[in-house]
Amino acid sequence: MFSSQSLPSAHIGQAALIGIPSCAAIYFVISRFLRPPSSTFPCPPGPKPLPLIGNVLDVPLSSPWLVYTQWAKRYGEITSFAIFGQRVVVINSLDVARDVLNNRSGIYSDRPRLVMGGELCGWDRTTVLVPYGPKLKGHRLIFSRGISAKRSLDKYHSVMEHVAQTFASGLASDSNDLIGQIHRSIADLQLAVIYDYTAQGRADPLVDDTERVLRYFTMILEPGAYLVDTLSFLKYLPNWFPGAGFKRTAIEWRALLAETSGALFNRVPRTKADAGRGCLVSDSLEENGTLPEVEELVRWSSFTLFAAGIDTISSVLTCFFLAMTMFPDVYKKAREELSLTLGDGVLPSVDDGSRLPYLNAVIQETIRWGVVGPLGVPHAALEDDVYKGYSIPKGAVVVVNVWGICHDPEVYSNPDQFLPERFMGETPEPDLEFMFGFGRRKCPGMNYSLQYLSLVCATSLVMLDISKATDDSGAVLEPKLERTERVINTPKPFPCKIRKRR
Ligand code: HEM
Repeated sequence: MFSSQSLPSAHIGQAALIGIPSCAAIYFVISRFLRPPSSTFPCPPGPKPLPLIGNVLDVPLSSPWLVYTQWAKRYGEITSFAIFGQRVVVINSLDVARDVLNNRSGIYSDRPRLVMGGELCGWDRTTVLVPYGPKLKGHRLIFSRGISAKRSLDKYHSVMEHVAQTFASGLASDSNDLIGQIHRSIADLQLAVIYDYTAQGRADPLVDDTERVLRYFTMILEPGAYLVDTLSFLKYLPNWFPGAGFKRTAIEWRALLAETSGALFNRVPRTKADAGRGCLVSDSLEENGTLPEVEELVRWSSFTLFAAGIDTISSVLTCFFLAMTMFPDVYKKAREELSLTLGDGVLPSVDDGSRLPYLNAVIQETIRWGVVGPLGVPHAALEDDVYKGYSIPKGAVVVVNVWGICHDPEVYSNPDQFLPERFMGETPEPDLEFMFGFGRRKCPGMNYSLQYLSLVCATSLVMLDISKATDDSGAVLEPKLERTERVINTPKPFPCKIRKRR
């Protein structure tokens, strides 16, 4: 979600004119002197750094995973580089990723520092940016009781079924804004499950605010968006200082984040009698009490769930519609499985998901093919470590090249093809659990996502006809997979025809 290589950017504005380069040089030299002697082991291999700036010029801002994949061929399964003295380790193999991030999770469960998004805009209160420690444990305890385990999801089945059917009926009557409709329906699901809130249509001010908050968050996470993430001393510039526009922006975005997360949280009833159907927040408060520190924990952990789930599930669902349009044979086979298993035209329930192995393989393949998070979310090393003879220093940022693994022919045969069958049969290819992260930071929304995706995809196949669109002259418009190439990858808009099933 956020990137390891925050590079010089357009946001520096006039600051460049007032000596930031020389401050950077002084900062770098001082921090080098203060650092303890390095390990006798070498860091993992990588491109040769330049003095001071390191490998800034080697790592592109757009799609860095493509460069990492090239480096993997030259330097091997674990590579590294440095940006202004910050070591970044890139893992290009699934086995090494599991070995380092799962088996040594006590060392690798921290997060890198994100000055703009975390400290200035206030996202450091959300789970994704909370450092490893007691606070993170508190957040994760709330998740394990509320959403991570399959059995804790039973109470949300009827909401999921309602949202999935409303979404498909909406598309049956108008599918002109497929990607927008997907996004809004996942936001509706999240609002209902986490806050028991039903949005009052598109004009709902709360929905508008949450959309703005999420948009700002993705901007903060873009690689290289803010120089202050690389040169943290810039956060001490006074707000009025030329080039310190990012600080004024941060004040505004911080206030909106606090207002929105507070408004969502405060409207959830505190007593069981008022809680109605209940939701994740009311259940967590019921279980843990309403002391101010507990409320604070529940407020931010639940807001993280809300925010982290929208773009991710939306991206996979968008990819699913694209795949169904591009690969009519897969679409036909998935529909046949549904009518053979459930009966023709019968709407699925969440429980039916486990009876649809082909559809589940299609969803896995959709996640692999679309590569929602091409670099996952970076971890950081809490202490010095040595792995396979390489030194990984304390504070190193550790990134898994998920894109590279998904496209590695040694892991997935014919990786550019869409082949759900790769996940079936006697010798399936590696499953997609790694796309949800590693160790003590693994995504708590994995079971929830997979359950809902299986339901909403099955519901859409039962209720809708999906096919290729044609232009005015009747020529078929061939869609193709073009990604946004951002921290969360989503397909760009594509032509397709969606009709109510006859
Ligand atoms: C297809 C959908 C999704 C994918 C591929 C995905 C993937 C990920 C990944 C790669 C991470 C980082 C794990 C790590 O650091 O090793 C993560 C973290 C997280 N995800 Fe998801 N996610 C998805 C959906 C969701 C949903 C629906 C929710 C909430 C309901 C959610 C909540 C979170 C949270 C709270 C974290 C932060 C965990 C932490 O920092 O300890 N995710 N997700």
